This record gives sequence, structure tokens and C-alpha cells, in this order.
Amino acid sequence: MKQVVRRNFDDSVSAYEAYERRTGRFETLARLLDAELRANAGGQLGTVVDAGAGTGASTRVFAAGERTERVVAVDVSRAMLRAVDTDQGQPVQADIDRLPLADGAADAVAFTASLFLVPDPAVAARAAARALGPKGVVGATAPRGWVTAAGEDIFAGLERDSRSPTGADEVRAALGEEFEVTAGTWRFATTAADVRQFHAIPAMAARLYPKLPPAARVERARELLDSLDGTVEQRWLWVVGTPR
Ligand SMILES: C[S@@+](CC[C@H](N)C(=O)[O-])C[C@H]1O[C@@H](n2cnc3c(N)ncnc32)[C@H](O)[C@@H]1O
Repeated sequence: MKQVVRRNFDDSVSAYEAYERRTGRFETLARLLDAELRANAGGQLGTVVDAGAGTGASTRVFAAGERTERVVAVDVSRAMLRAVDTDQGQPVQADIDRLPLADGAADAVAFTASLFLVPDPAVAARAAARALGPKGVVGATAPRGWVTAAGEDIFAGLERDSRSPTGADEVRAALGEEFEVTAGTWRFATTAADVRQFHAIPAMAARLYPKLPPAARVERARELLDSLDGTVEQRWLWVVGTPR
């Protein structure tokens, strides 16, 4: 599955960047997560691991943090990482299940919209716990879905096996095994056009139709969302934790 996720993101760079340029959604998620990390950290966040850094929207946010000296941008997709600003150091192509840091070397591990993409988030949660050691702070965001003004999940009609297997609750549970966590939901009013553009990203359309090839799944998502209108609420789980 990880190779599939990597290929999906390798195919997604331009669509991802177009969505981010228009909405700034991932930067916003990283900003909100950064604030939670800092509020929960016992000390300064000198070394931050941006676990699943993508094209660097989150990396830029963490790097701008007060008294942050180093951000280690880690991602499986080399194509996504090519866009990361290298001012903070060279990004590392690696799996977030095996973070490339010595035990206890990190002050924060942040999974901005990435922990829901691994087959078993508990493995990455253990890797984060090792990288942090007895101090520091972990954080994650994961999508909770899109809800219409009438309160309907716009993907409720899809068969379960056509949807991504790792949900937000699993992300929270996995971090809860290793850390003392607090969590909540961020809600963003978005347009139907935003929802369509999000699912024009092949890696995101893969969460709806994982068995279809990239062009076909984007086309199916487009058809599914064609008649969507008005304002849609996008919900993201956030979780922040400190070592037990
Ligand atoms: C939705 S993007 C978020 C990127 C970035 N954090 C941001 O806020 O823009 C998720 C990223 O997680 C990466 N990813 C997924 N599974 C991974 C894994 N097992 N190890 C490392 N990175 C992974 C993907 O390649 C992708 O770049």
C-alpha cells in the first residue's frame, strides 16, 4: 500500500500545488497545528520533524516558528519533496514509520495531513515516540469529511470498500497508545469548487476510488461532485500529545 501511496503523490504534485495556491488549506492546517504544538510543548521546539512534508507548505510554517533551529522534512514521495525549500536543510526521502533520527533527537513530530495515509498509524506513532524520547510533543491532523449545510456527509453514498481504510478515529487512537493526547475538530467553510479541486488531486481521489487508475479515479470524483453546490464544511481532526 505504501508504494501505491508514494506513486499517487508522485503523480499529484501539480494538482496539489494548484489546490494549495488557491486555498492555502495545508498551510492553514500547519499553522493551527504549530500553535497547538507550541502551546503543549514543555520547552522550545528546536528540532521539528515535518513527517509527511509533501511540497513543503507545512515545512515553511514550522521553520518560521520562534526558536526553531531545524526542520527535518520527511516524505516517501521524492517528487513532492522536490518543491520543498531547502533553507532548513536537505529534505529526506523516508517512511514516517521509520523516522531517520536518533532516539530522542526531536522536540516535535508533526504529521500535517499524513498519518491517515499509512496502513497502520500505530507504527508511525511508535516511531514518533522514539524520535521524541521522554520529552517533546507530537501532533497530527486528519480529514473528518465534508458536510453539506443540510448536515449530510457528501460521500456517505459511497460503498465502504471504495473509501480510504484509515480514518481520523484510528489516527487519534494510535497516538493515544503512545501519548497523553488532547484533540478537537477544525471546521472550514468551503465552496463546492474547493471540494472538486481537492478531489482533482489524484492522491485525494484515491481515497474515494482506490482501485481505479489515476485519470479514471479523478474523472469518477469529478462526475460524483459535478452537481454539488453551495457551501460545504470541511472538517479536520487535530490531535496533540506529550509522552506518557
Ligand atoms: C496531504 S500531503 C501533506 C503534505 C504536507 N504536510 C502539507 O501540509 O502540505 C501528505 C504527504 O504524506 C506523504 N506520505 C504518505 N505516506 C507516507 C509515508 N509512509 N512516509 C512518508 N510520507 C508519507 C505523501 O507522500 C504526501 O506528500
